[in-house]
Amino acid sequence: MLQKALLAASRRPGLRRAVVGNPATRRVVDRFVAGETRDDALAAVRALHADGVQVTLDHLGEDITDRSEAVRSRDAYLTLLDGLAPLGLGPAAEVSVKLSAFGQALHGGHDVALELVRPVVEAATAIGTTVTLDMEDHRTVESTLAALAELRKEHPGTGAVLQAMLFRTEDDAKALAVSGSRVRLVKGAYDEPADVAFQRSKDVDAAYLRCLEILMAGPGYPMVGSHDPVIVQRAHELAAQNSRPADSWEVQMLYGIRPDEQRRLAAAGTRVRAYVPYGVDWYAYFMRRLAERPANVRFFLRSLVTK
Ligand code: FDA
Repeated sequence: MLQKALLAASRRPGLRRAVVGNPATRRVVDRFVAGETRDDALAAVRALHADGVQVTLDHLGEDITDRSEAVRSRDAYLTLLDGLAPLGLGPAAEVSVKLSAFGQALHGGHDVALELVRPVVEAATAIGTTVTLDMEDHRTVESTLAALAELRKEHPGTGAVLQAMLFRTEDDAKALAVSGSRVRLVKGAYDEPADVAFQRSKDVDAAYLRCLEILMAGPGYPMVGSHDPVIVQRAHELAAQNSRPADSWEVQMLYGIRPDEQRRLAAAGTRVRAYVPYGVDWYAYFMRRLAERPANVRFFLRSLVTK
């Protein structure tokens, strides 16, 4: 119930104003968001790199309503990639994009998003890194996977996200378990209807493990996007069973979530990448993080009453 309410709130502008305008919110947001500017993001990249943790950077923003905002998203990513270039980290610092921030939901949006994201993918390739297409709610999956197929023709390292909660995902995992393909598998962060997605967490977890087996057995590059110890452990077992070298797959976790575990895994030889969001438009991202975990909500509520 609470999870559904928070996910619904993530799309309500009135609540957005109440949460964003509250100064106490800032302290909690700082735990999940690296800052508002490109320099804040680059500082987080340097700190994580010093700990042996790779990054994928997300310039926050989604569900934009006109083309000029989509152009601004493109430009923000181009500026970010300019800033990453001198660090010389190559694929250890990549970017994640939400196609809704590039206009996917506008009229003719698939083509708009593809047109505007292409220069970002080209700029990433030029500095030796990659772009991963985040996955949003189930209505966007067809368009996002079609954009992926298009972009991979010239930039085969472009990655995508599959959400275990969707019924279709096992088939998508089979289709994407091919050489050169980079797939981040996650449980799924959106409130999806019962005709397209598993509703019980134990069914989502079981679906995740089935998809993980498919990806780890294939010749692609699986990216295990989860903080769940059972999943991370199972990924290591499957890597061993499939004789995967350590550089043929990775674990991904969100910035600020289980940071000690991120460092511990990296020190033990697992490739680890943190998903680092930054920017002013953090509201929807933040609300999804609250929805994922009651402890995050308690932390948030405590911060509102303590100075
Ligand atoms: P879940 O939240 O179910 O937690 C399982 C267990 O993990 C807990 O019981 C606990 O043991 C441990 N755990 C979780 N959080 C913890 C914490 N804060 N402290 C300690 N232990 C904790 N979603 C989407 O729809 N589209 C996308 O593109 C992406 N992208 C993405 C990138 C990356 C790198 C990650 C990690 C996640 C996403 N997601 C996403 C979000 C994803 O769908 C999902 O909502 C969250 O990862 C939460 O699911 P978990 O697998 O982490 O486990």
